[in-house]
Amino acid sequence: MNELFEFLQKEGIDPGLLDGVKAFREKYPTEAENAARVPDPEYYYYGKKTWELALASILAGKNLLLAGPKATGKNVLSENLGALFGRPVWNVSFHINTDASYLVGTDTYDGSRVSFRPGPIWLCAEKGGFGILDEINMAKNEALAVLHAALDFRRSLDVPGYEKIDLRPETRFIATMNYGYAGTRDLNEALTSRFAVLDMPVISEENLQKLISRRYPGIRPKIRDQLVKLYGELERKAESAEISDSALDLRGLLDAIALMEQGLVSGDALGMCIVNKSFDTYERGLIRDVIAARIPADMQRRDVFDV
Ligand SMILES: Nc1ncnc2c1ncn2[C@@H]1O[C@H](COP(=O)(O)OP(=O)(O)OP(=O)(O)O)[C@@H](O)[C@H]1O
Ligand SMILES: [Mg+2]
Repeated sequence: MNELFEFLQKEGIDPGLLDGVKAFREKYPTEAENAARVPDPEYYYYGKKTWELALASILAGKNLLLAGPKATGKNVLSENLGALFGRPVWNVSFHINTDASYLVGTDTYDGSRVSFRPGPIWLCAEKGGFGILDEINMAKNEALAVLHAALDFRRSLDVPGYEKIDLRPETRFIATMNYGYAGTRDLNEALTSRFAVLDMPVISEENLQKLISRRYPGIRPKIRDQLVKLYGELERKAESAEISDSALDLRGLLDAIALMEQGLVSGDALGMCIVNKSFDTYERGLIRDVIAARIPADMQRRDVFDV
């Protein structure tokens, strides 16, 4: 956590907000029984403005909805927030069959008696957790209705047949929702209204440079810079609808670097991780051309890495 704190200071995050985080942590220290659920992030989220918006919302007691295209760091930021605030995290992946009893809890019979098995939302409420509601827009509205009272000023869970509990004051919910240039499945208004909505930007060139250098310290700076520019170019082409956003995938770019580090030649690595994500032959050709202008297809590991 100290390392993350130092990272944020170095990134120039408003010191007033960081003081707010410190005060929060002093007021709500991590309990030993929950410590194992506090994330220990492998990656840090880059983006000063986004950090500041997120910190201010959480300090103000709000729940956050992170909305944006794929691979813009929505989950990385959510986990980083759990780590920074020292809260245990419950991750819930929403899908079409997610139902209220899965979220809140359900009665189970162990052969001799019936007992209540709490679900992740219940545990967040009870233990002061951060609940990450991943891809929240994928669930059906009926399942989400159970969250309304938890997410607004009532801050409580009241499920017929069970006791009613109030959320601990430090409990927060961070939802994510993916939408691309081609739109997505919407989230209903009643739910959206209960979140502060943070539009997740595509990472800036400067931050992408920092991210790559941190994750792959051995990469040659010249290659790194070409990859950063390549990504920017794919982004511009997707934005202007020259290509779809199937190939605009930061995960893919980072995976391609990992494969080159394993010894694949650049053409194969970028092919598998970027080009082949489009299933349109014409588009694949366009993407291949954009790549070829910056990274020759026959680069070996020693051309890409210093060591
Ligand atoms: N601003 C950023 N700072 C740090 N890492 C980032 C950033 N943007 C993207 N990434 C990287 O992109 C990859 C995907 O991140 P993550 O899984 O958080 O994305 P996501 O927005 O949840 O994507 P999806 O919508 O596809 O689930 C990770 O390797 C992450 O480190
Ligand atoms: Mg995600």
